[in-house]
Amino acid sequence: MNILVTGGAGYIGSHTCLELLESGYGVVVIDNLCNSNPKSLERVEALTGKKITFYEGDVRDEALLQRIFAENQIGCCIHFAGLKAVGESVAQPWRYYDNNLNSTLVLTKVMQQVGMKNLIFSSSATVYSADNEMPLSETAKTGNCTNPYGWTKYMTEQILSGMCTAEKDWSVCLLRYFNPIGAHKSGLIGEDPRGIPNNLMPYITQVAIGRREQLSVYGNDYDTPDGTGVRDYIHVVDLAKGHVAAVKYTTQHTGCEVFNLGTGVGYSVLDMVNTFQEINNVAVPYQIVDRRPGDIATCYANPAKSAALLGWKTQETLADMCRDAWNWQSKNPHGYSEDSQS
Ligand code: NAD
Ligand code: WQD
Repeated sequence: MNILVTGGAGYIGSHTCLELLESGYGVVVIDNLCNSNPKSLERVEALTGKKITFYEGDVRDEALLQRIFAENQIGCCIHFAGLKAVGESVAQPWRYYDNNLNSTLVLTKVMQQVGMKNLIFSSSATVYSADNEMPLSETAKTGNCTNPYGWTKYMTEQILSGMCTAEKDWSVCLLRYFNPIGAHKSGLIGEDPRGIPNNLMPYITQVAIGRREQLSVYGNDYDTPDGTGVRDYIHVVDLAKGHVAAVKYTTQHTGCEVFNLGTGVGYSVLDMVNTFQEINNVAVPYQIVDRRPGDIATCYANPAKSAALLGWKTQETLADMCRDAWNWQSKNPHGYSEDSQS
């Protein structure tokens, strides 16, 4: 079966393409490369010895999507394409709503036209309200998002679940990711943020490699064991395997189902820094600074539903995540780019 992967050249998309190919699926990618480099797909091809059919273009381009469906027999679509920087979404809300909502509307319009209605969507733990108890089950309260990015995920979930209510032949999995980090064991594909990283792990690896002077730890006065923020970090390869499990589920069921993809365990910022330093024997200088606006103290998943219905569980440890993130960064000090100015 061929899987259409939107945003397949990106961080999670490229790792998922690799796992799909290794599980015997054909892979067709559409990506406009607004936040990625086509080298990621070349490297996936080199690692697997298999070809990816790549279309450079925008998911909001209806005619291009129609051509892709006409030229390829697609059995399921995984929709990663989207903008994901929280701070940028506050500064550029229209761009985020346009990109993230219209890409889903155009994609599902064309899927409707061609009668292929199996869809997996990249949602986020950010859709959960801040006032829930931990761990977060899929039934926890959602909404009260604090930024436009979060609202695009929340609204897309509403759009897709409403479509499943109206038309019983749709099959949609909404996958709520917790904090994906790490890289493929080969060190050939990994996370390559543009500019200054917003997220913790790429910041740590860039400090370790000498591209940034020191890490700012955003607050040590939270109500957590060491006072720093606690998150559910998940190895990107485990996350990618969760998508392969979701493809099987989606093609065998109908309706809309929500799944958490997380480990169920929370680690603090200082746990991350200490584990990274110990496992890789490299220094990560840091200073404690004020809390980052919008951050919450603690966030981790209850992954029991994914284990029960998808038959999927994470396998990698925090040490694996730290080692693999560093392996990627040290083999590719400037990511996919050879330019040393980034
Ligand atoms: P990424 O930026 O590396 O990948 C997204 C890809 O989509 C990029 O290759 C980009 O070029 C492409 N893209 C964006 N808009 C497009 C459009 N209109 N048409 C075609 N291509 C387009 O991000 P990622 O970390 O791999 O995230 C993938 C998805 O998972 C996103 O939807 C993101 O919101 C979601 N997600 C990510 C995280 C995370 O922490 N990385 C957490 C939760 C959810
Ligand atoms: C993790 C912890 C920070 C950077 C974000 C999005 C969320 C999702 C995943 C897409 C927090 C601390 C961070 C730094 C730090 N993305 N930190 N210094 O905030 O849990 O989630 O990415 O859906 O929507 O909001 O992840 O990696 O930014 O932060 O101390 O330089 O690390 O305060 O406690 P977050 P993160």
